[in-house]
Amino acid sequence: MPKAHREQWATRSGFLLAAIGSAVGLGNIWRFPYVAYESGGGAFLVPYLVALLTAGIPLLILSYTIGHRFRASPPVALRRLSRPAEAIGWWQVLISFFIAIYYAVIIAWAIRYAGFSIGQQWGAEPGPFFESTFVGITEAGDFGTYNIGVAVPLVAVWIIVLLLLGFGVRRGIEVANKIFMPLLLVLFGALVVRAVTLEGAGEGLDALFAPDWSALGDGSVWVAAYGQIFFSLSIGFGIMITYASYLRRKADLTGTALVAGFANSSFELLAGIGVFSALGFMAVQSGGEVQDVAAGGIGLAFVAFPQIISQMPAGDVFGVLFFVSLVVAGLSSLISIVQVVVGAVQDRFGVGRVPAVAVVGGATAVVSIALFPAGQGLILLDTIDHWINQYGIALASLVLVVVVAWALRSLPTLQRYTDTISSVPLRGWWVVTLGAITPVVLGYMMYDSLKAELS
Ligand code: PHE
Ligand code: NA
Repeated sequence: MPKAHREQWATRSGFLLAAIGSAVGLGNIWRFPYVAYESGGGAFLVPYLVALLTAGIPLLILSYTIGHRFRASPPVALRRLSRPAEAIGWWQVLISFFIAIYYAVIIAWAIRYAGFSIGQQWGAEPGPFFESTFVGITEAGDFGTYNIGVAVPLVAVWIIVLLLLGFGVRRGIEVANKIFMPLLLVLFGALVVRAVTLEGAGEGLDALFAPDWSALGDGSVWVAAYGQIFFSLSIGFGIMITYASYLRRKADLTGTALVAGFANSSFELLAGIGVFSALGFMAVQSGGEVQDVAAGGIGLAFVAFPQIISQMPAGDVFGVLFFVSLVVAGLSSLISIVQVVVGAVQDRFGVGRVPAVAVVGGATAVVSIALFPAGQGLILLDTIDHWINQYGIALASLVLVVVVAWALRSLPTLQRYTDTISSVPLRGWWVVTLGAITPVVLGYMMYDSLKAELS
């Protein structure tokens, strides 16, 4: 029997949309606006763009190149590069597993909150509602009661993800992204248009974009910029190696990386405009300043936004738009991380797609569903998130870059490979950024996190 062919994207835009779908996620909507606001506002765009060009896009191209050249998920692709490098691939798989189990939970919350938006079912005090009534947060050590209101949408999230992955690269992942990405643009576009026409939007935008140029001299601002780029482009989790392994032989790796990188950043800016317009509205309503209400992360989505929605005319519609956007953006990212775990087992152990999805994907789902709907779920989520963001991401990319650039000295070979198939030639900047700038920045980021931890 001929060896089974590797799955492939059906169209050129299939890979691009899936890459954008993975990148555009909760990080764009709730992470970027707040990081930018806290790290120099308009001035943050300078380190942010530098980070995109000196680390984000070069690493994106490296991942695409490894996936395309070695045609496998991270463990096998890196093993083909050099046997011991397989360990880096498994590290990425492990990180993906840990992100997947909690990322799904946030999507499940967003599903519930889309429903709660209708009639503002969080009542007069969204903060206590979220923590006590909804999540039922408990003290450390106390497992708390298992929360069915979270478990039901969480089970639904996992069923959707496993079904899509079961359908495969073309009929599952590609089709989903071809629906999700345009849908997200329409929903979120409508939300932003509404937000910028709210009273107070100008105050919010002023607060976000007012440049604090002194921030440029602050090392932590640069760390924040690189950190945002790594998280936002989903670099270091093996996602882009995995997705690129399903490309055809003829593929424009550099051109796609540039488009995906800038598309993700554009969506971030759009989200910043929408989120801070809404925060400006809230500040004006409460007679306060934007700085009193600015927030990011879970607090922004599940506390501040409910407050905004409750104060708005036609808040129900705005709420549904916001939470459904989170769901759509989150699902396309979740699919990509779970595929890393599933694909790794498929490629390494020669298992078929359906059994791999059922066993590995199923096990991931079970862990997620068993742990997070309990009262401890939020604390666990915070812990994993902190650990992944502070160390997991930087360490994975640092080791990868050092091994590829310095131990194996493969960059020139990989560059020649990529240049023969791509539209935009890499020239020297790729080797220089990856070989020198990226490792220095990543090393400094890890040092910075450790220092913060110990002090
Ligand atoms: N890039 C995604 C975002 O911006 C986050 C993500 C990280 C998704 C890792 C998948 C894997 O939200
Ligand atoms: Na992103």
